[in-house]
Amino acid sequence: MKTQLENIYNTATTDIEKAVSISELDDIRLKYLSRKGELNNIKKGLKDLSDEDKRTIGAYANKISQDLETLLQEKHNAFYSEELKKRLETERIDITLTGKSIPMGKIHPLTQTTNEIVSIFQNLGFSVVDSSLSPEVETEYYNFDMLNVPKDHPARDVQDTFYSNIANNVVLRSQTSGAQIHVMENRKPPIKVIAPGRVYRNENINARKNNFFHQIEGLYVDKGVTFGDLKGVLNEFVRLYFGSSRPTRFRSSFFPFTEPSAEVDVQCIMCQGKGCKICSGTGWLEVLGCGMVDVNVLKGLDIDPDVYSGFAFGMGVERLAMLKYAVDDIRLFFNNDKRFLEQF
Ligand code: DAH
Repeated sequence: MKTQLENIYNTATTDIEKAVSISELDDIRLKYLSRKGELNNIKKGLKDLSDEDKRTIGAYANKISQDLETLLQEKHNAFYSEELKKRLETERIDITLTGKSIPMGKIHPLTQTTNEIVSIFQNLGFSVVDSSLSPEVETEYYNFDMLNVPKDHPARDVQDTFYSNIANNVVLRSQTSGAQIHVMENRKPPIKVIAPGRVYRNENINARKNNFFHQIEGLYVDKGVTFGDLKGVLNEFVRLYFGSSRPTRFRSSFFPFTEPSAEVDVQCIMCQGKGCKICSGTGWLEVLGCGMVDVNVLKGLDIDPDVYSGFAFGMGVERLAMLKYAVDDIRLFFNNDKRFLEQF
């Protein structure tokens, strides 16, 4: 019986030596060491031996199966690490390759500026007028008449305003101020709104002027609204938009739809008030027009000027963006040059 075991041991070890893959090792384990394997078949004959032989042959059989198990395991480990190494080689990822960059879209600087201005006024209690209430293709009635603009005012000239050649009195709006009329026609005071939008003017295009641009109109009408309220709101706006250290000044002006009227200047952002080319030596830059809503405008909308008063203001988005970001040519906003747009 011992010789039989020795033979099994010898053939099994040669088989293990010759094996070239993990699956072959599995077959060998099955052939010699499984429950129905050759070693077990022999062990079944142990019961017929004497006690003495049972002990020694039994121990020998156990030793053989342990040794074979160890040999199989060792070879299995060797194959396994070899296979792993091969896979790591062939499936290797070169992490030094530069990735493909995915270009990110950005919000246009004029939209960013509009959003910033709108959110400042929203925080001051103004709500945004839906753009559908105040169209870009407008009538003279809203763009001029109801805003107290005289029939012979130069702004009405075709040199300044685009008129339709199909319908009479139809214009591309030259200002967002008409939104004031649409709002007051539709709502009773208190009214506290802003209306952003695009406007058109018949201009020769240059670094400072384009034939369309964007404005934000503001209107506050209620009982007891004063010029002090106007100054409070617009000073706060400038403080939040340009930074708290930027001085402002209110300069008396004229607009047909406000009385009194003013323009707001901020200290020049280039020379800090010393006087330079940008501010034409004055030390100040104009940022918006404003005033107390003219009594004639209120009356035209059946709002009693003895009960209600209000203020209005209008500002150019391009101008405010140009001042804040030191952009020296308005056309840059409309050329769609990525090198410019990516800077915002
Ligand atoms: N609409 C004027 C413009 O285009 C700006 C403006 C000035 C608007 C005074 C106003 C205002 O509401 O009160 O130049």
